[in-house]
Amino acid sequence: MDQTKVFLSEKDMPRQWYNLAADMPHPPLPPLGPDGKPVSPDMLAPVFPMNLIEQEMCTDRWVDIPEEVLDLLMMWRPSPLYRAHRMEKLLGTPARIYYKNEGVSPPGSHKPNTAIPQAWYNKQFGIERLTTETGAGQWGSALAFACALLDLECKVFMVRISFDQKPFRRLMMETWGATCIPSPSPETKAGRDILEKMPDTPGSLGIAISEAIEAAVTDPTGKTRYSLGSVLNHVLLHQTIIGLEAKKQLEIVGEKNVDVVIGCAGGGSNFSGLAFPFVADKIAGAEIAIIPVEPTSCPTMTRAPYAYDHGDTARMTPLLPMHTLGHTFVPPPIHAGGLRYHGMAPLLSLAITEKLMEPRAYDQLKCYQAAVTWARTEGFISAPETAHAIAAVIDEANKAKEEGKEKVILFNWSGHGLMDLAGYDAYFQGKLVDYPLPEEEMQKSLEVIKDLPKPEDVAKSLA
Ligand SMILES: Cc1ncc(COP(=O)(O)O)c(C=O)c1O
Repeated sequence: MDQTKVFLSEKDMPRQWYNLAADMPHPPLPPLGPDGKPVSPDMLAPVFPMNLIEQEMCTDRWVDIPEEVLDLLMMWRPSPLYRAHRMEKLLGTPARIYYKNEGVSPPGSHKPNTAIPQAWYNKQFGIERLTTETGAGQWGSALAFACALLDLECKVFMVRISFDQKPFRRLMMETWGATCIPSPSPETKAGRDILEKMPDTPGSLGIAISEAIEAAVTDPTGKTRYSLGSVLNHVLLHQTIIGLEAKKQLEIVGEKNVDVVIGCAGGGSNFSGLAFPFVADKIAGAEIAIIPVEPTSCPTMTRAPYAYDHGDTARMTPLLPMHTLGHTFVPPPIHAGGLRYHGMAPLLSLAITEKLMEPRAYDQLKCYQAAVTWARTEGFISAPETAHAIAAVIDEANKAKEEGKEKVILFNWSGHGLMDLAGYDAYFQGKLVDYPLPEEEMQKSLEVIKDLPKPEDVAKSLA
């Protein structure tokens, strides 16, 4: 029997993060301020600490990971690379399926890979308190955990529907010492405005982001900053430790090439973290299918345009160039809360426009079915977000079988679903339905971006 788990020793853990911005065929476009001009670092200073703003704008290929951050990451990293022997056997595929198990972190997902460095850089900058939003609760619990380790206060605005569906995530945050409230909330102007118009709204990541930013920038002490769990360049950068470790682990088991790289994408961080080091190989000529997977209910990458848009509903963030459904889009209440975001990371969006990726969208029922098959073969119970990646892995493994090809498929098992069992319950009881986004609804939601600057015009004006 071939090896099942590949461990990397702590001493072989990557010491630098990889920055795809350095290798993109066309340089990323800048975020724009309200005047339509590129934002300066000073404009972001009330929201983020300057050391992270510098990282956000950095174009160096490699960025050193501070020693103290490495020490904290080593509480669970390097994460094991698994070979899915039992799944391969069930499918009868000639493909070899590998996955990074990011569920081994204390909060149970990839999110602490960036929560730890973000909390650390804020602490270095003299910040005492962080605010954030959370969808499924994975990011909020990751930041709560990181703030506990670095002795920072933490306040989390949790999307209302997830707050109701996932009480145990809130308890995890509270156990780590954070405060967690449902969003929209009466605590901020952004929240009050939304509640007045839509008192029964399930909430959205866009709304929760507005609330968390407002809570940070209105703190009169100046000691509070906002922390985002996905989308931004520095977040994706921190996550590249996943792909860099995976490369070393594949080498240990003698795999020279990877044919297919898969991950689910909400804001794009776990997928990019695994995929970007392989995108670099693709840019250099390697043949790799790189597949981010999203829900059909929130089809940012597969159907929405690449456009400038705000990252939040109340338009507090700069305009970002990204695949977007429009900043007021409220996705249907599917159980994969972490995939219910109207936008997509600018760097990942750019890679899609450069045809370096082949995004795809799946219905929720297919994903639950895949996750149940996974649990009954590989044992691990997946987060509903992760289930989207598994559905694509099964399709790709079946394709390899049809083609009779011995492909190497690598994917990111981004988190466990032990706090998401209500979704499994609803699935078993036949209560879940698919919600493919109707075209008219998408066109309506895109109206809010029609007068915003267009990426092609901005590119021309900067050329
Ligand atoms: C387990 C898990 N996977 C994936 C995601 C999607 O986020 P991202 O695209 O930033 O990785 C989330 C978000 O909450 C998550 O909790």
